[in-house]
Amino acid sequence: MDIVVKSEELNSLVERHKAKGDTVGFVPTMGALHAGHLSLVEKARERADIVVVSVFVNPTQFNNQDDLINYPVTIEQDIEMLQAAKCDILFNPTVMEVYPDEDKRVFDFGMLDKVMEGEFRPGHFNGVAQVVSRLFDLVKPDSAFFGEKDFQQLAIIKRMVKDLNYNVNIVPCPIVREADGLAMSSRNVRLSEEQRKESVLISETLFESKILMKTKNIKEVINFVVDKINSSSLLRVEYFNIVDGDTLQPIDDWRRSEYIVGCIAVFADKVRLIDNLIYKNFHDAC
Ligand code: PAF
Repeated sequence: MDIVVKSEELNSLVERHKAKGDTVGFVPTMGALHAGHLSLVEKARERADIVVVSVFVNPTQFNNQDDLINYPVTIEQDIEMLQAAKCDILFNPTVMEVYPDEDKRVFDFGMLDKVMEGEFRPGHFNGVAQVVSRLFDLVKPDSAFFGEKDFQQLAIIKRMVKDLNYNVNIVPCPIVREADGLAMSSRNVRLSEEQRKESVLISETLFESKILMKTKNIKEVINFVVDKINSSSLLRVEYFNIVDGDTLQPIDDWRRSEYIVGCIAVFADKVRLIDNLIYKNFHDAC
């Protein structure tokens, strides 16, 4: 695996592969890798000739400085995991390399970023779009792989690709869960033993709510999920929205859409966890 810090070096490596006709699959990450990231690398390996992974903790997407400072950095371990996963190129740039000049771009995502993460983390998605577009310019991938755990991020990236006319195929990859159901996240390592045990309540409650959708209306299901998770003294729901999977706007009736997703953010003290569950997806039926 080549490990590069400089964009010129990345560029010459990628160009060499492209000259041979190789396709480039790209997995952007902020490091602190886990099996969820490795599933993206695996999918990229299946779909592309070479795989580029970036490890870059992007300062512009953190609306909370504490979260940025405490974001886990485990680069030695990441390198070992990527080597074992047969990644071809690791791009591990500095902030100056990604942003030689301040990125002042302000994106317009319409209503997509007015809800959920966009509402509770102002500026977050603007920062995500800045870095992903910078990385796309540097890596020039044919396809890029993103986890469905960050459901809203995926919608934002698809929109950015469309608006900026990138010729990059965005490939969504399913959530990877721990054995007890907790969605894998780099932030999970910050949970205390007690919080870690308790946080299983998030996925358990979401799964239970899927059964309830047969007999309860949306408002009742929302109340059930929020009350059950908040009944734990260690967890606090920040939001739980049931939304249309394309527009991300809240819906009030199961019959209102053929693609329905429940998205949740929960605090375990200072650690913020997100998860989601697809209630209905017409794509499955096609
Ligand atoms: O999902 C993430 O880890 C980050 O938001 C991303 C896409 C790597 C951009 O920094």
